[in-house]
Amino acid sequence: MAGSATYTRSIFYHPLMAKYCLLLACAAAFSFTFALRAEPPVQHAEAAQQKTPAPPNEPKITFNSVHVDGPYIAMTFDDGPSAVLTPKLLDLLATHHIKATFFVIGENVAEHPEIVARAAREGHEIASHSWSHPNFAKMSQESVRSQLQRTDDAIKSAIGKSPTLLRPPYGSITEREKRWIHDEFGYDIVLWDVDPLDWKRPGPAVVRNRILKETRPGSIVLSHDIHPGTVEAMPSTFDELEAKGFKFVTVSELLAMASPVTPYPKAEAVGKTAAKAAPPAVPGSSPGD
Ligand code: NI
Repeated sequence: MAGSATYTRSIFYHPLMAKYCLLLACAAAFSFTFALRAEPPVQHAEAAQQKTPAPPNEPKITFNSVHVDGPYIAMTFDDGPSAVLTPKLLDLLATHHIKATFFVIGENVAEHPEIVARAAREGHEIASHSWSHPNFAKMSQESVRSQLQRTDDAIKSAIGKSPTLLRPPYGSITEREKRWIHDEFGYDIVLWDVDPLDWKRPGPAVVRNRILKETRPGSIVLSHDIHPGTVEAMPSTFDELEAKGFKFVTVSELLAMASPVTPYPKAEAVGKTAAKAAPPAVPGSSPGD
């Protein structure tokens, strides 16, 4: 103990060592003050980081619409095939040289595989809309899996290949379901950005007018080939969409055309010209879902 006291004293008594200690003390005091000052902003930054959602590094698997560089749209028809209405619609589509996408119900595919086969043969896309139209968000993983597998099997048996797209009934699906369904079945989840609410049977004119009003390049138009009024609305709907310059592709074709949402260089985007050139609609944004 006596030794350490001597040591302390000897440090402070040496003039050089005393100077050195003073410097050290100053440095310590300075860094302490700096640390105190720096602490609040650091905490702030961390809090802000936690609030910011993770960057979308994962590939997109859900689509309401697609950002495309041309007047392309996808007409989609759900809940069929219907024994009477779907063949009628297929005739219309053939006359207009329009390719559409059918989100079929597995039960109906099993009942009318020949209609589904004809649709596929004529260039339309066949996609899954579940086996019996239940609400996926309220179901067990096992029940959803069974709905999907049975439908996939029925479609494969009708057209010789599995679908690659799924539209969950009512557009109802959890984020977790989207992920495991995509991982297990490889499906992209396809919703819509144009909904004429044709299932409420508002009459062909209303169905047509709603579609014409809402459709823009990259739109995915929802309707149902199980309602007579919807099929009745299609000839004039197709005519008028064509007159507006729209071109019809299947959903998979539309997805393959996807272009970056911000294709304009940053420097240009600030300018007036770029603002003018930018597409008027914000793709991917839709009121529903
Ligand atoms: Ni449906």
